[in-house]
Amino acid sequence: MIPNPLRDPRDRRLPRVPEPCALVVFGITGDLARKKLLPAVYDLANRGLLPTNFALLGFARRDWGDQDFAELARDAARNAARTPWREEVWERLAGSVRFVQGSFDDDNAFDELAAALGDLESSHGIGGNAAFYLSIPPAMFPVVLKQMERTGMAESTPDRWRRVVVEKPFGTDLASSRELNELVDSVFSAEDVFRIDHYLGKETVQNLMALRFANELFEPVWNGHHVDSVQITMAEDVGIGGRAGFYEKTGAARDVLQNHLLQLLALTAMEEPVEFSADEIRTEKLKVLRAVSLPEDMRRFAVRGQYEQGWLAGQRAKGYRQEEGVDGESLTETYAAVRLGVETRRWAGVPFYLRTGKRLPRRVTEIALVFKRAPHLPFADTDTEELGNNQLVVRVQPDEGVTLKFGSKVPGSVMEVRDVSMDFLYGEQFTETSPEAYERLLLDVLLGDATLFPRNAEVEASWAVIDPLEEFWAGTTPEPYRAGEWGPRAADDMLAAEGRRWRRP
Ligand SMILES: NC(=O)c1ccc[n+]([C@@H]2O[C@H](COP(=O)([O-])OP(=O)(O)OC[C@H]3O[C@@H](n4cnc5c(N)ncnc54)[C@H](OP(=O)(O)O)[C@@H]3O)[C@@H](O)[C@H]2O)c1
Repeated sequence: MIPNPLRDPRDRRLPRVPEPCALVVFGITGDLARKKLLPAVYDLANRGLLPTNFALLGFARRDWGDQDFAELARDAARNAARTPWREEVWERLAGSVRFVQGSFDDDNAFDELAAALGDLESSHGIGGNAAFYLSIPPAMFPVVLKQMERTGMAESTPDRWRRVVVEKPFGTDLASSRELNELVDSVFSAEDVFRIDHYLGKETVQNLMALRFANELFEPVWNGHHVDSVQITMAEDVGIGGRAGFYEKTGAARDVLQNHLLQLLALTAMEEPVEFSADEIRTEKLKVLRAVSLPEDMRRFAVRGQYEQGWLAGQRAKGYRQEEGVDGESLTETYAAVRLGVETRRWAGVPFYLRTGKRLPRRVTEIALVFKRAPHLPFADTDTEELGNNQLVVRVQPDEGVTLKFGSKVPGSVMEVRDVSMDFLYGEQFTETSPEAYERLLLDVLLGDATLFPRNAEVEASWAVIDPLEEFWAGTTPEPYRAGEWGPRAADDMLAAEGRRWRRP
């Protein structure tokens, strides 16, 4: 019998609306809540994707009443909403907003929060369901988790679900991430834990799976027989802003390589999942992360750098050590690049070059598959001088889309061949704009769909890649690069040593 898609609960074409529930945001007055979470809640409400019985509860130290909080939340949502502003949508939402003031070590405040949740069951019919978002400094995770355990807030029962959302960083190394995972798993059951890597919420990252597994064209060449190397780049033109305290302790490898870049690598290199479900996709990603190998010669194939004063978009940019709050002799890296391997039959011998950095010339995130050269060219050498390797580039941001680079004949009477590009741009092909990553991920949390959230074993496997790198770099001085340049020279040398070069996106 052919299943009726309208009756199939797994049919993802139908807009899915969560069951009645509350979203509790710890750290509601913070930067992330204001810039991303509150606008995302508004956008979901505006798209009709929140249940009618919904409540938003904020928790923080600042002494605000419900009214002050509602005003702040409105401004935050209005300033950064993706969808058009509709006062009536906000008014409806504002009627279900509550603020609980207190410190995380204050038992009374948590008792008050538990009571507020109980009240919302009768006043807003949330059915006891709640998701707790830890938008707080990581050092505070343990105390908040303990409070939730003490008050019984974390307990899912057959009649209600309770979920927790953990923001990165998930620890600072393998040992601390294990400790954190054990703590989270002792309070919540594994299927109720949602670890946010917001890159996975990006439409273009999900499109990577569509590109690979919905087409016949690409998968046959998606392997070491045809692919020469893979480059995964996340470049930022900004510096560290006001986040010196956090960044000084973290650096580029822990901040970006450990999570975003390794997740992109996993999605690029993984095998086809048996089905498009959280368990199957995460299992395939984990296999890749476990198969990642570090270079034997780290001196040549792992480079870290730190930006010095330079110029960006016509403006003078400070060096990292001159940024407010940064130690004048800081050894923290603002750039990291490494050559990794994936020890599987599909990828044996193919280098995966990963790089990330701040104060680079442009903000761009992309995955580029660089193909091998054609084994034979029946043209004169001079006619193919401008012919490079074929490349397939998935542009994660900005200019979301895919580019295919290949050789083509230059018009004229001689057989001259040169690289050309074929572009697919999201903005041109689709009229609807993509949801923000946080919008998509928040909705998934409320729906209980964990497909786009890394499992604890993935996080630990990623730290197992980063720890030896950090050990190797400990106490060394990062290579300098000028703000506005594409990283230190050593990173160029790393590829040049193998006859390759970085793409200039
Ligand atoms: N900001 C981003 O773009 C971003 C991006 C990725 C990940 N993250 C992660 O998201 C989390 C939140 O980041 P953020 O930038 O929003 O931090 P933030 O601006 O420092 O905000 C921290 C929040 O926690 C509250 N808080 C801190 N200590 C508290 C305590 N003892 N008791 C009660 N409330 C307390 C603060 O409330 P009061 O100020 O009212 O006390 C504030 O609302 C962090 O884990 C961060 O690593 C942030």
